[in-house]
Amino acid sequence: MKLYTVDSPVAMSRKAALLVARLIVTKENAVLGLPTGETPNGMYEALVQMHDAGLLDFSHVRTFNLDEYVGLGSNDPNSYHCYMSRYLFSKVNLSAVNIHTLNGAATSPEQECERYEAQLRAQGGTDLQILGIGSNGHIAFNEPGSNWGSITRVVNLSGVTRQRNSVHFAKGTDVPSTAMTMGIKTIMNAREILLLAYGSDKADITYQALNGPITERIPASILQLHPALTVVLDAEAARLF
Ligand code: PGA
Repeated sequence: MKLYTVDSPVAMSRKAALLVARLIVTKENAVLGLPTGETPNGMYEALVQMHDAGLLDFSHVRTFNLDEYVGLGSNDPNSYHCYMSRYLFSKVNLSAVNIHTLNGAATSPEQECERYEAQLRAQGGTDLQILGIGSNGHIAFNEPGSNWGSITRVVNLSGVTRQRNSVHFAKGTDVPSTAMTMGIKTIMNAREILLLAYGSDKADITYQALNGPITERIPASILQLHPALTVVLDAEAARLF
């Protein structure tokens, strides 16, 4: 594991963007596995800035998002597809055919998961999977107890996750109770993984995940077994290291 501890969330975002840029510059058709949530916002902003400055060309880059809520179509403002349009897709020169997301409105979410896993495999898998970590140790929507052998599938969301994510939903709109997510195995198959965290509320879980026992109770703990794991933390998230 390579660990970078930097001063601030802004520095974390910048470092993460540089690591992504390094890959794109060396492999123009890189396959990126992309997260949503609070953690990667600044990284996307930094990537957009590099693109605007003419430093980064996304025209051959391929992207696969980690997860999506069941029932939320791509135009739903709470969908992760919409999040990605807001932060990245509409702001850089990604080609529409190279953007891959799970369709939350699919009539059969199970079949949609199978389609997605096969599509990722057909494209040769992920070069770089970027991840945040949930306060309960989840990665993507792989909640505690997720099987190490899991692939893209429909999952139930924990109360903790629904509660935390409810701040992003309009008042009176419930967070869906199910989602589609890449599995632990799908994530671990990435050639490189970049884990990001900032803030003191991530300090304990990040430390446990990367230094404690490898256990299905803390899904992110399996990352200790990945041969090419890079971690970027701000000083607060790295407090216990
Ligand atoms: P956050 O979520 O980036 O909003 O903290 C991380 C996660 O749940 O993976």
